[in-house]
Amino acid sequence: MKNEGKYVLVVGSSNMDLNMYSKRFPTPGETVTGGTFTQSFGGKGANQAVASIRSGSNTVFIGKVGNDTFGTQMLEHLANEGIDTSGVILDPDIVSGVAIILIDSKGQNMISVAPGANKKLVKEDLKDATDIIENATVVILQMEIRLEVIREIFGIASEKKVISILNPAPFKEIPLEVLKKVDIITPNENELYKLHNSLGFKEQQENLHEKISKVANDLHTCGINTIIVTLGNKGCFVSDRKNGEQYHVSAIQVSAIDAVGAGDCFNGVLASRLSKGDNLRTATRYANVAASIAVTRTGAQSSMPFWNEIEKKFIELYE
Ligand code: RIB
Repeated sequence: MKNEGKYVLVVGSSNMDLNMYSKRFPTPGETVTGGTFTQSFGGKGANQAVASIRSGSNTVFIGKVGNDTFGTQMLEHLANEGIDTSGVILDPDIVSGVAIILIDSKGQNMISVAPGANKKLVKEDLKDATDIIENATVVILQMEIRLEVIREIFGIASEKKVISILNPAPFKEIPLEVLKKVDIITPNENELYKLHNSLGFKEQQENLHEKISKVANDLHTCGINTIIVTLGNKGCFVSDRKNGEQYHVSAIQVSAIDAVGAGDCFNGVLASRLSKGDNLRTATRYANVAASIAVTRTGAQSSMPFWNEIEKKFIELYE
């Protein structure tokens, strides 16, 4: 792997998404007919890599796919986007990751993932990637891969002062010693409360912003410095201990049709803008704008906006 200059490193999952758009979700035991089916490229890691490169940053993706039709299609697609995929491993002994996604007429979704090769990425697979981790401007991980991989990468990144982001999705308990090595965590509201609870804190009862503020302050006391809570159609909330600030970034009103990958869009663009040198507030605003575009389109990677679209909307809103 060769990558010179500034770049975002994404290590994570790549899935083939099998999407079913229908009026409503079935209840257990029920069959709902009349839906529309599409197949598209997904996986939280690969989605974030596409969001990062489309928003203008050189991007390297490391992960594992099966040596099967889905795996080769996913790799070809990422390479066509311009992403450096030379660190992706094709494993002949396991199938590629697949996600079955139901989307209702309100744009809400339910996702069930068979991780396949994603869960076979082990820390030994990273032995040739030390340079690429150490020289990244920003490294971003999610939780569809093994904890041992997450631990290893954040260990290297924190020693070399690489800006590190953990998107704790889907939520799993994370040891505090790993969290302390991360610069920014980006849970959604639900993941934030699960994380808070997993670290032994009691639930807070106040209104949304007060509650998030208190929960974030609790997490700061554990050594977690920057928390960005994504709130869907309510925007996001930033708690930045370093600068002693907490603020809300307002939602942008749009007609959402499909929220699949919107969180990944936010994360990929956040990483991309931080690697370009934006401060936290500006990078978060760009990420929020980008996610508001993504929800107006179908699919995960197919919904990621390009830099000219993000910049145009950002100028309309903030300048
Ligand atoms: O965040 C959305 C993604 O979650 C989908 O693309 C699906 O593959 C699952 O990983």
